[in-house]
Amino acid sequence: MTMTDTNRQWRLKRFVQPDEILGEEHYELSESPMPTIDDEQILVKTLLLGTSPAQRMYVTEERTFHIAVEIGEVMSGRGVGVVMESKHPDFEAGEIIQATLGWQDYVALTPDDKSDTGKNVRTVQKVPNPVRPLTTIMGLFGQLAFSAYVGIIEVGQVKEGDVVLVSSAAGGVGSVACQLARIQGASKVVGIAGGQEKCDWLVEQGLCDSAIDYKKPGQDLAAAIGEHCPDGADVYLDNVGGAMLDAALQNIAVGARVVICGMISTEYMNPRPDGPKHYFNLLYKRSRMEGFFVFDYVPRWPEFEEQLREWYSQGKLKLVDDVFDGLPSAPRALGSLFTGGHTGGCVIRVADDPENIPAI
Ligand SMILES: NC(=O)c1ccc[n+]([C@@H]2O[C@H](COP(=O)([O-])OP(=O)(O)OC[C@H]3O[C@@H](n4cnc5c(N)ncnc54)[C@H](OP(=O)(O)O)[C@@H]3O)[C@@H](O)[C@H]2O)c1
Repeated sequence: MTMTDTNRQWRLKRFVQPDEILGEEHYELSESPMPTIDDEQILVKTLLLGTSPAQRMYVTEERTFHIAVEIGEVMSGRGVGVVMESKHPDFEAGEIIQATLGWQDYVALTPDDKSDTGKNVRTVQKVPNPVRPLTTIMGLFGQLAFSAYVGIIEVGQVKEGDVVLVSSAAGGVGSVACQLARIQGASKVVGIAGGQEKCDWLVEQGLCDSAIDYKKPGQDLAAAIGEHCPDGADVYLDNVGGAMLDAALQNIAVGARVVICGMISTEYMNPRPDGPKHYFNLLYKRSRMEGFFVFDYVPRWPEFEEQLREWYSQGKLKLVDDVFDGLPSAPRALGSLFTGGHTGGCVIRVADDPENIPAI
């Protein structure tokens, strides 16, 4: 394993304004000396960083989110790293871990530090027997897939013969959700995505039976969903909210499960727009709408991971990550969540996967 003597870090330069797309202009790439470690600490080299729409809330001026990055601080983000040096009895050099590493090449972590007041998921977790490529840790066997699992299997309760509609279907959560719906026996999986290219990709990759381009000029989304789901959708996994949720509500089947996973189209609006007009269909169709938070299921993550690994090894699940290369690409990768500039799970590769990984 090689180490350089400087540590590149993306630090926050200015807060993102409500009408702005998050981008490189909000950050500054600086260089600091390599961190050194004390007793009970480990030195970690960042290999991969994940992305989440919630990271936008870390850098808004309102400071309403439980994670808040201050001007000049290193941008927060979870990732996968390799232990370079350890002064902690439970960790060895070469081991692969997951933690809040931040947007930087190297970080000194204190695995037993509980002073974090529960504001963040800072726990350093070892990754036993990681599956290569290590991007699987962020995507197929990580939070994105766990969210899809909870949405489709736990809350959506997709069963044999269901028609399943998924928004942001070509994204990280959506692309796994479509695959899980198939595994659960859905008779038809319909995706909604921005652009014909993404829609073609969803069908070509076998993730969806058909797909709707919500950005098509003149598109009447409710009518299009009606054409793709003539008898209504039994399950709608909503990653988008707003007008898309309303269009889906007009097309639910009797007994439908409308699963609120995210609302990227409206979550960052200030003030928030009015709610869905067509919620009365929940009554007419004797349906339910329910949200979930994947962190409520942390104790069950190992169970989800085991099942997802089994399906992956059986060839039922495939990895469809979009890997942005290099730490400098981090702001662009995060910004792509809001512009649709990626396909599949959006991951930043900071350094190559190590050749030798000790078995744990
Ligand atoms: N409930 C939970 O515990 C939980 C956990 C994780 C994630 N989530 C939520 O799950 C959703 C997906 O997260 P992800 O990380 O997998 O992101 P993602 O789907 O990979 O990326 C976001 C996608 O949203 C679409 N989008 C952005 N702005 C939009 C708009 N105004 N209208 C319609 N579509 C828009 C874009 O795709 P197009 O090109 O198709 O527009 C973009 O690629 C997010 O809403 C996130 O907040 C929830």
